[in-house]
Amino acid sequence: MTAPNVVVLTGAGISAESGLGTFRDPGGLWEKFDPYELATPEACARDPAKVHAFYNLRRKDLIASRPNAAHLALAELERGLDAAGGRLTLVTQNIDDLHERAGSPRVLHMHGELLKARCARCGATARCDGDLSINAACAACARAGGLRPHVVWFGEFPFHLEEIADAIAAADLFASIGTSGSVYPAAAFVSEAKALDVRTVELNLEPSDNADVFDERRYGAASRIVPAWAEAMISRATT
Ligand code: APR
Repeated sequence: MTAPNVVVLTGAGISAESGLGTFRDPGGLWEKFDPYELATPEACARDPAKVHAFYNLRRKDLIASRPNAAHLALAELERGLDAAGGRLTLVTQNIDDLHERAGSPRVLHMHGELLKARCARCGATARCDGDLSINAACAACARAGGLRPHVVWFGEFPFHLEEIADAIAAADLFASIGTSGSVYPAAAFVSEAKALDVRTVELNLEPSDNADVFDERRYGAASRIVPAWAEAMISRATT
């Protein structure tokens, strides 16, 4: 059998066991904070210091966290598929860098990256692993007051959508891991895959909003079910 082309979409659930909060689970971020007060361009214009404080805290939590077995298993799966002549395209809704730290070589961050800042004045992006503030100056244009987290807020356009659509169209399998399937356009990827006769599988703690669209469904903690799934994928691709 030729090794498959696989598109994997991950969500906050894959990073939950690394200690990073999800959004819509009980006690999740959007239960504690109002997303429209913190994750919209209007919120940032209204109270930039409050938005910076929210993301500075999440940046500190991220730097103190580590990839878990699920992140490591996806990096291993990508190496295994590459060696067998297949391919893995990793798309994430997450703004953490745990996939990269687990060894995944190329991650399509459709909602941006917490460890990058973008200048609203000149558009330059740069690595940011410290605190952002309203007085911070852009390294590229030296102007202050325009730096924001390089993340996609509600009402903004996600990144890499064309590349993701092309990857799904060329895929043999679309796998969704650790996402509630409640935010578009990511939540529509499974239907796009299905319409193109691409096989689909969901790996999640519990059925997502669009669970019934998937051909196959595996439920449990990501750090347990993703390594098992990845191992089975590699052995199927290499026999
Ligand atoms: N293992 C596997 N799945 C888990 C685990 C775990 N340990 N813990 C939680 N989950 C699952 C939950 O069951 C839930 O379905 O992860 C999913 C997390 O859903 P959300 O909190 O809605 O996160 P996500 O789907 O990534 O949100 C999408 O919404 O607010 C925006 O930009 C934000 O990228 C985010 C987007």
